Amino acid sequence: MKNSLSKDLDLKGKKVLLRVDLNVPMENGAITETSRIEKIIPTIKFLSEKQAKIIILSHIGRPKGKVVKEMSLKPISEKLSFLLKKEVLFNSEPINEDTKLKIDKISNGSIVMLENIRFNKEEEINDVKFAKKMSNLGDIYVNDAFSCSHRAHASIDAITNYIPSYFGLQITEEINALEKITNKIEKPISLVIGGSKISTKFKIINNLIKKFDNIVIVGGMANTILKHTGKNVGKSICENDSSVLVKEIFKNSKKYNCEIIAPIDVVVSKNLNGHGIEKNIDEVEDNEMILDIGPKTISSIEVMINKSRTVLWNGPAGYFENPNFQNGTKKILEAISIKTVNDKIFSVAGGGETVAAINKFKKSNSFTFISTAGGAFLEYLEGKTLPGIKALNQNV
Ligand code: 3PG
Repeated sequence: MKNSLSKDLDLKGKKVLLRVDLNVPMENGAITETSRIEKIIPTIKFLSEKQAKIIILSHIGRPKGKVVKEMSLKPISEKLSFLLKKEVLFNSEPINEDTKLKIDKISNGSIVMLENIRFNKEEEINDVKFAKKMSNLGDIYVNDAFSCSHRAHASIDAITNYIPSYFGLQITEEINALEKITNKIEKPISLVIGGSKISTKFKIINNLIKKFDNIVIVGGMANTILKHTGKNVGKSICENDSSVLVKEIFKNSKKYNCEIIAPIDVVVSKNLNGHGIEKNIDEVEDNEMILDIGPKTISSIEVMINKSRTVLWNGPAGYFENPNFQNGTKKILEAISIKTVNDKIFSVAGGGETVAAINKFKKSNSFTFISTAGGAFLEYLEGKTLPGIKALNQNV
C-alpha cells in the first residue's frame, strides 16, 4: 500500500483525523472488553511521537443518526486515557466552527476524541457535505479501522475525497495478514458463523456457500434459520423477514455442495440471567429463549472442525457473557485451537464478540490470525473490494 503511514512523513503540528473502531462491548455503562482500544495504541503513540495533533473519529453501536446517551464515546475516551497514561480530551458538541477552533489550539502530540460519529444522520448515508465538514478539521486523514471499512460511510469513504488520506498501522497489518492467509488456505474449508448481527450476514453466507465446504450456523443467526424451517424459537432473537434468503441459502448449499449445519439441540432459559435447560430443537416453548447450543450440536461441530484444513470463525454460539450459556462458544474455541496447534491447520477468527470470547477463554495464542473485524472480515473473504480500502487506494 503506497499511502501507508510511514516514518518519513513529516507530521509535526499536523492535525491528523484518525478513524478507528471503538465499537467495544459495553454492559450497564461499563466496557466489558478492551481489545479494540488496545489495538489502536501503537498508531496513537506513533502519531503522538511525531508531534501530530490527533483527532479521533469513531462510532459505537447503531444509534441511527440520533444522540443516544448510552452510546456516548465518553467512557471509551476515559479508558483510552487510562491505557495511554495520557490526557484524552473529549468533544461532546456537534462538529462546527468551534470544534475547529478548539482543535487548532491543542498542542502538538495531544489527543482529542469526537463524540460518536453515528449521532450524525449524515454519517451512514456517506453525505458529502458532512464529509467535507469533517475533513476541514484536519490536515490529513488516516483510516485505521479495517473492521469498519466495509461501510461506505462519510468518515470512511466520502471524507477521502477532500483530504490527503492514508492507511494506518493496524489496518495495514490486518490487510497484509489476511492477504497472506487467503492465498494459502487449503480445503476443506469450514466457516462457523454466529452472533447477533443477523441480516447483513445472511447475504454474506449466501455468497460464501460457493467457496466453502461446510458452514455451521449458530447464535442469533441459527434462530432465524430454525424459525424459517418451522421450529418454535420462543422469545429468541431472530429476524422475521429473511425467509427468502434462508430458502436461497439451502438451495445454493445443495447446488454448490456445501454442508449447512444448524443446531439440533439448544440451551434455553426464560431470561438472560436465568439458568440453562438443555432441550431438543422441537421442545422450545413460547416463553423461552435460545441462549446456547446443546451437546449434540457441539459434537457435530467438533467432527466437522476435525475434518477441516481451514476453519474461519465469526460470532459466538450463544450468550457467553453469562457462564450458564458459554459452553457452546467455549467448546468451539477449544476444538479450533487444539486442531490448529496439533495439525497446523489455518484458523482465522474475527469480530468484536468473537475476540471478546477468545480473550475470555484465554485462547489468543492458538489461532493462525485474529482479526478485529467481523462483517469486514467476512466481506473480505467473499472477495469484495471494501469501500474504505477502495477509497484509500483512489487517494494515492
Ligand atoms: C463492527 O463491530 O463490526 C464494526 O464496528 C462495524 O459495526 P456495524 O456492523 O454496526 O457497522
